[in-house]
Amino acid sequence: MNYQQTRLAVVGYGYWGAKHARVLSSVPGVDLVVVDTDPERREEARRGCPTADLTGDFVGVLDFVDGVVVATPPTTHGDIAHRVLRAGKPVLVEKPLATSTSAARSLVETAAEHGARLMAGHTFEYNAAVWKLRETINSGELGRILYIDTARLNLGIYQNDVDVIWDLAPHDLSIIAFLMGERPASVATWAHRSVGARHADVAYLRLQLERSLVPAFVHVSWLDPQKVRRVTVVGDRKMAVYNDLLDEDRIRIYDIGVDPNDPGEPVDTPAMPVTYRTGDIVSPHVVFREPLLVQDTHFVDCVRTGERPLTPGESGLDVVRVLSASDVARMCGREVPVGDEPGVVDGREVRLARTKLGGTPT
Ligand SMILES: NC(=O)c1ccc[n+]([C@@H]2O[C@H](COP(=O)([O-])OP(=O)(O)OC[C@H]3O[C@@H](n4cnc5c(N)ncnc54)[C@H](O)[C@@H]3O)[C@@H](O)[C@H]2O)c1
Repeated sequence: MNYQQTRLAVVGYGYWGAKHARVLSSVPGVDLVVVDTDPERREEARRGCPTADLTGDFVGVLDFVDGVVVATPPTTHGDIAHRVLRAGKPVLVEKPLATSTSAARSLVETAAEHGARLMAGHTFEYNAAVWKLRETINSGELGRILYIDTARLNLGIYQNDVDVIWDLAPHDLSIIAFLMGERPASVATWAHRSVGARHADVAYLRLQLERSLVPAFVHVSWLDPQKVRRVTVVGDRKMAVYNDLLDEDRIRIYDIGVDPNDPGEPVDTPAMPVTYRTGDIVSPHVVFREPLLVQDTHFVDCVRTGERPLTPGESGLDVVRVLSASDVARMCGREVPVGDEPGVVDGREVRLARTKLGGTPT
């Protein structure tokens, strides 16, 4: 199909916005305007993206663009995205969609009110390795899923406005929901602030999925000597590991497992409690395209056709609900349900003490 030129704005030309600008510049028929309030970042964009128009005035470009990608710090997402949606234009908002459940819900409602498309930047849902992992789970090859474990660690970029959970866990939460086709019903959280006065930099989340009751464990850290980007899915027949740091063999399926011995045996029997199975390790072929390019090309298609995004605002809201519940779980020191009222546990209000910049103290 032939389309007229599509004019898009990328708001925020920082670490990630520069990548959006790069991939969108490569999509045929897209004209780009880069918006950043920082003149130094605009200067950087002039060098990195020479064909794009540059401005610091976001509101001024709204009338002249067909859609907007928001890649500014998380606490600014809600305000910027609201303005775009109220202008009736489609918007792709980086993760996390917003920094509270009410702000995320309000974006979904505003999108519906103004008939504008709202898309969540859940990049891993556009990743061919994640698709292959889901296909493997759905085929039954792994058997019944016993648990999922994710690790996203390195010497990370400490953020000003959110902690490590709000920064990194959205990836794992969206991957888990995508793989299992269900949402977490509850979350328990342990988090620690090791460096600086502001935010937790190491955290563990334990989720329980709503239908299968499968537990999922999410470990995120900005303070780890080794870079790890790993999702492990353990089934009662086989196990699969997705290692995002590998160029090849990103997915490995291990034909190994453990079977319980006869549960009828007396507990004081000296026999081993389990029997081990070992077999081949297979790496399925995955045709890989840069996920951000796949995601942003899909956004361009949504802008041109008006189709509903594969990761609509509602999936961004789902992730924010879990993040908000995880804040409450941390404050309460116990598992809490994931719901619409993150500050209410057992009918009582739990006050989330927010710092000036929007994070929760540890
Ligand atoms: N999907 C992913 O894999 C991924 C990876 C990294 C970051 N992100 C997300 O991308 C977003 C940006 O992260 P980052 O690491 O690039 O941050 P960053 O701090 O490097 O960049 C943010 C940029 O936004 C600009 N900015 C701030 N407020 C603005 C405003 N009101 N109008 C215009 N420009 C404004 C800043 O000047 C800066 O250049 C965050 O939401 C982050 O979570 C996503």
